[in-house]
Amino acid sequence: MRRQILVSFFAASAVLVSGQGFSGDWDAAYGKAQTALSKLSQTDKIAIVTGVGWGKGPCSGNSGAANSIGYRTLCLQDGPLGVRTVSSITVFPAGVHAASTWDRALMRDRGHGIGSQTKALGINVILGPVAGPLGQFAQGGRNWEGFGNDPYLCGVATEQTIGGIQEAGAQACVKHYIGNEQEKNRHDMNSVIDDRTLHELYLWPFAEAVRANVASVMCSYNKISGTWVCENGRMMDDILKKELGFKGYVVTDWDAQHSTAASANTGLDMTMPGSDYNGNTYYWGNKLQSAVQSGQVASSRLDDMVKRILASWYLLKQDSNYPNIAIDHRSNNGGPNVQGNNATIARAVARDGIVLLKNSDNVLPLQKPKSIAIIGSGAVANPKGINSCQDNGCNQGTLVMGWGSGTATLPYLSAPADAITSRAKQDGTSVTTAATDTANQGASAAQNADVAIVFITADGGEEYITVEGNEGDRNDLNAWHNGADLVKAVANVNKNTIVVVNTVGPVLLESFADLPNVKAIVWAGLPGQEAGNALVDIIYGATSPSGKLPYSIAKAAKDYGTTIQAMTDNFSEGLYIDYRYMDKNSISPRYEFGFGLSYSTFNYSSISISGTPTSGPESGPTVPGGAASLFEVVATVTATITNSGSVTAAEVAQLYLGLPSSAPATPVRQLRGFDKVSIKAGESATVKFELRRRDLSYWDSSAKKWVLPKGTFTIDVGASSRDLRLSGKLEAS
Ligand code: NOJ
Repeated sequence: MRRQILVSFFAASAVLVSGQGFSGDWDAAYGKAQTALSKLSQTDKIAIVTGVGWGKGPCSGNSGAANSIGYRTLCLQDGPLGVRTVSSITVFPAGVHAASTWDRALMRDRGHGIGSQTKALGINVILGPVAGPLGQFAQGGRNWEGFGNDPYLCGVATEQTIGGIQEAGAQACVKHYIGNEQEKNRHDMNSVIDDRTLHELYLWPFAEAVRANVASVMCSYNKISGTWVCENGRMMDDILKKELGFKGYVVTDWDAQHSTAASANTGLDMTMPGSDYNGNTYYWGNKLQSAVQSGQVASSRLDDMVKRILASWYLLKQDSNYPNIAIDHRSNNGGPNVQGNNATIARAVARDGIVLLKNSDNVLPLQKPKSIAIIGSGAVANPKGINSCQDNGCNQGTLVMGWGSGTATLPYLSAPADAITSRAKQDGTSVTTAATDTANQGASAAQNADVAIVFITADGGEEYITVEGNEGDRNDLNAWHNGADLVKAVANVNKNTIVVVNTVGPVLLESFADLPNVKAIVWAGLPGQEAGNALVDIIYGATSPSGKLPYSIAKAAKDYGTTIQAMTDNFSEGLYIDYRYMDKNSISPRYEFGFGLSYSTFNYSSISISGTPTSGPESGPTVPGGAASLFEVVATVTATITNSGSVTAAEVAQLYLGLPSSAPATPVRQLRGFDKVSIKAGESATVKFELRRRDLSYWDSSAKKWVLPKGTFTIDVGASSRDLRLSGKLEAS
């Protein structure tokens, strides 16, 4: 009987409902791949799995073609916020900004926009989204490419982004798998992660990616427990392919390969770019051919690589009528205009990802001030040109993305000073702009204005570029260019000071957050090309702010409990990063994870919890398709949210879960659900959270299984991780 119930569970879960991931038919794709395989020569097979060499093709990565099956060279191109090195694409807000919308539909629309432009340019694979780094370190240089440091939020954003990209017909490549949490020494870093922490934090969003039917996974530069990830059998074969049931292919990060046979035998399926950056050293190509001939690599393993790559190609239907490649990353830029109407999506994500942190005396939305002073170099576009720094490797002008391979070429920039100036005309407001970071110049510009809007920034990026002494990871968590001094000087002379922060991650605000003249703090994130328009939408009240922080803003750097490591990262803090650490150690952050204000107010009421989960280990099959029953919904929570203010506004209700005492030590509460609803003033809406078996489980390292503990779960629903409004219990028998 129990077996029958389980079987029907699995049958039901094989089909993803719309709004989750990508629903592709792997079986059909594998059928076609199997047929194609028989038409391929050994040389074809080697070509399909090997990059043609750095700089030898039009895309960031290119593999060989196989004419017998109509398989042309595969084109892989960066990156996670839009197609890199082409002129006329959309530069969407960065991943971390999409995360701060907490809006599944917008995450998906953004993914779809990226995917449709990828396809229109004839690119097969877009090298995103980023699910690692997750954000072990607040200073981590590339955190902004991903979706914040909570695995649940990151997992949802990863799944939705992949769903959008692949529905548009492009292959997504989720990266960087795994444990690549810092830029410093990333090529040699040894990450030693205990099995439970791995599963509950760093692997979690990758499991969602596999669940979403992602086509490919990029193995990262670093080592795990002493072995490079791209030749690590435990990470690629055992965990990714067997435990999670990944059916696509593993591709190296660029030049992350270190061996011929070892990488092949441990689960690597494709090497990119096929050589090192000098074009001299390579590991596959004819070397792989020899290794297969000599029996060091089984021919069945080569066939498996090829089938995985071809199945992904068929899964996305790229075998018929796929557009021709219309880019050449070597000539940098050019390419046809594929923007379509994606600016609208970019603006919506930029707008709804803005987080309002402080708003004393309701200084916002602006009420027709007589005069506004706009202050700070971050208010205006980089005077040297919006794309003047290679891979955005500078922090000049409005900061709308970090630096490195995760950038793209801005088709235009809506700069905040321009957008505010043009909106201000409607009210007859006079505007002066002082694009200066010098404190006394800022103060003199601000002193006679009704309202002063000060722009400050903090930047980070990839290690191959050093910006103002920061080698990828940030050196500290301060605002750049003496931003705090600028704010203090302005607030000293202007009683309506509004601070706008464009940043890759947390910035310490302590020196000015409590100043009475600092009336508002607007967390404007990394908004992409629509920065100014989105900001105007919020500060003029066309839309109420609805973003929430995807990380905590601490009072001091030490309050995160982690710092960039030398050569070995032991992940000794375990599960306790960000709010999990602060909650455990009773540390009050300045603004907690999940926090964000609105122009309205919300009442939470009527929590209802249903479900009778049974305790015990995951008992379903682990392949194919992953442990399906882990994703079965076993409890449902609903609550009523009432807009008790006077304007239409959206609220992100969040569910935090505490495990029963029978479980091993676990963070006191962890995000396990969220629901964003837009509600008219005076009206109510129901929010719904579906808890899957895995959401209620911990990873048992000795049993190597997820275990749902017996006893009483605590369920808190609220407006942030520390503003918990409703509470209830759930029993697992
Ligand atoms: C290295 C980066 O880590 C990766 O994210 C990127 O996709 C490749 N370079 C290709 O540019």
